[in-house]
Parts: sequence; structure tokens; C-alpha cells
Amino acid sequence: MGDNVLGSWMDSQPRQKASVRAVVDARVWELHGARILGLAEGRLAPEHVVTVPPGESSKSWEGLGRVVDFLLRSGVRRNTPVWAIGGGVTGDLAGAAAALVLRGLPLVHIPTTLLAMVDSSLGGKTGVNHAIGKNLIGAFHQPDAVVIDPTFLGTLPESEWRGGLGEVLKYGWIAEPSLLSRDYRFQADSPESAWADVIATCVRIKMRFVEADETEQGVRAHLNFGHTFGHALEAVTGYNRYLHGEAVFLGMRAALRLSHDLGYAVDPTGLDRFRPLFPADTSGLLGRVHELNAAMRRDKKAKTDQYRFVVITEPGVAAVVETADETLVQAAWEVILQP
Ligand SMILES: NC(=O)c1ccc[n+]([C@@H]2O[C@H](COP(=O)([O-])OP(=O)(O)OC[C@H]3O[C@@H](n4cnc5c(N)ncnc54)[C@H](O)[C@@H]3O)[C@@H](O)[C@H]2O)c1
Repeated sequence: MGDNVLGSWMDSQPRQKASVRAVVDARVWELHGARILGLAEGRLAPEHVVTVPPGESSKSWEGLGRVVDFLLRSGVRRNTPVWAIGGGVTGDLAGAAAALVLRGLPLVHIPTTLLAMVDSSLGGKTGVNHAIGKNLIGAFHQPDAVVIDPTFLGTLPESEWRGGLGEVLKYGWIAEPSLLSRDYRFQADSPESAWADVIATCVRIKMRFVEADETEQGVRAHLNFGHTFGHALEAVTGYNRYLHGEAVFLGMRAALRLSHDLGYAVDPTGLDRFRPLFPADTSGLLGRVHELNAAMRRDKKAKTDQYRFVVITEPGVAAVVETADETLVQAAWEVILQP
């Protein structure tokens, strides 16, 4: 969406007329601050911007307190829009603050990472982490708008691009197999021409799942394909060895093997083509499968003592299964942890 499109959308929305508060990733503010002020067409005063230090550690109870404090001290009213500008960390944090302050301020997401464009800015999940686990504190708070401008991707580091690609491939398995047959490469110059249609496809898929099941009582859980294994890898390695998308990529490879071993017609090597794009080091983890399994049982999405996985029943179709079969789970781990 270009600048004038956002401007005219704001003009047409009674809820967007008030002056804006912006919660912006500090790196994005450094790189794109002038452009962001331009997008706001005079509705955003520089003193109404709060920056968020890059990194998952900003998505904390303390970080949330800081943003809530900023919003309240800046004199927000019930109709003051909050713009969340950055990747998933800023989006989740700003969204949680917008959900809480005055019991809910209008929220606009302006995602600047591939992951945020295809996933985290859509669907209304907001939140921060707790020492016990990721995303344990938060609320559903739907944005009034999500403004996706792929030209922001021109400054995204290659490693972060990979994080988003993991989620794009996820949509391939759960909904749109054509996403699995494309050739992906990081393109800093003119990212909009390389990525606009992939992003649009992913947005449509995510919105279909969210509209069918906003609060994740059923099919929305399919969006967690690869995430049960992936979250366990992130938790056991202290959230500093893998980017989220890398962990999801490994998790999807394990989940494909599990799907195959459960009898579904799925090629367990179906993601191997993309392995060179995700050079993840898994050394030392095969001996820690019991810890990984304990982390999977603690995953907040698990409702019983069984493991709960999203599996692929055929390319483009997913299902949720529960199993207590340790042999199946061990075989899935071995696919990604075997040296
Ligand atoms: N709410 C949801 O539904 C949902 C879904 C998936 C993931 N998430 C959350 O999203 C988070 C991960 O998001 P992320 O991968 O976007 O990471 P992120 O927000 O940490 O951003 C990654 C890095 O990219 C930098 N950056 C952002 N935009 C840039 C740009 N245009 N140019 C240069 N640098 C830029 C940031 O400074 C940061 O260092 C996790 O906390 C995860 O839990 C939420």
C-alpha cells in the first residue's frame, strides 16, 4: 500500500482522525523514520513516537509497562490510534499495550519484516513473554488495518528474511502447495516485485484461517504446523540459538516425518530442497530429546498430557493429532538432530 492509500484510508475512518501514537522498532526508526512521519501526513508528532530496542527481550512484562506508561503519559484518549511499526516483536508488544490501555485503543499494524507481513501482524494475537515461556501474557486485539509495504524489506538483513521464509513454506504445506515449488531468494533491491504476490497469497491464507476460527478453537491451530517441535527447540536452547523461522523450518521437517509415519501420503523429505537456505546447527541436541519432549508437553497449546501436533494429511491439508507414542516422536526428532 502506498503513502497516499494509507492517507486516504485514514481520512475515511472516524477512528483514525485523532493524532497518532507510534510504537516503532528502534532500528526501523533509524532507517525509515522520515518515511514513517511522511506516511502519517502530519498526524504523528515526533514526541509521540516510542522506540523499542530490537530483540525478543523487548517483548517482556517490563517492555509492556514502558509502552503502556508512554501511551498514558502522552495523553491518549479512547480513539487515539496506535501504530505498531516493526517486526513481530514490536507488533506483539504494541498490540498488547493497545489492548490494555483504556481497555483497547484502535490499532494499525505496519509490518516491516517478512515474518510480520505474512504472519504476526495478521489475526489479532498480541502478547509478551514470561520467564516460564513465550507469549504467555497477552490478549486478542484485532487491528483496524494492516498496511503492508514490501519496500520496507529492502533494508532487512538476510537472516531475518529467512525467518519469514519459514512461515511462507508453512502456508505451502497447510494450504497452498504452489508456494513449495517456487525459487526463493533474498532480494534487497526492488523487494516489492519479488515478494508482493507471495505476501498477498500468505495474507489471504492466514485471514481464511483466522476468519474461520478467530480464537483458535479449531482450524486456526493448523497455522502452528512445525511449531510444537520448533518451540521446543527454541526453549531448550534458551531462545538464542535459532531464529524463530529457522526453528519452525526444523520443526516442519520433523512434523513431515511424523505425518508420514502416521500413514499419511506425505513425502518426509518434502522440505529438503530448501535446506541450503536454513543452515541450522543441531549438534548436541540428540542427547537432549527428553528435555525437548518435556518442553513440547508444556507447550501452552497442549491440552492433555499427550503430545499435540499439526500433521499434514496431504500437501495443502493439515490436521491436529494427539499421540503418546514416544517411538514416533523419537523418529521425528532423529530426522533433524541426527548428525
Ligand atoms: N502475533 C502473532 O500471531 C505472531 C505470529 C508469529 C510470530 N510472532 C512473534 O513475532 C516475533 C518475531 O518477529 P520478527 O521475526 O519480525 O522479529 P523482530 O521483530 O525481532 O525483527 C527482527 C529484526 O529485524 C529488524 N528489522 C525489522 N524491520 C526491519 C527493516 N525493514 N529493515 C531492517 N531491519 C529491520 C529489527 O530491528 C530486528 O532486529 C516473535 O516474538 C514471535 O513470537 C507473533
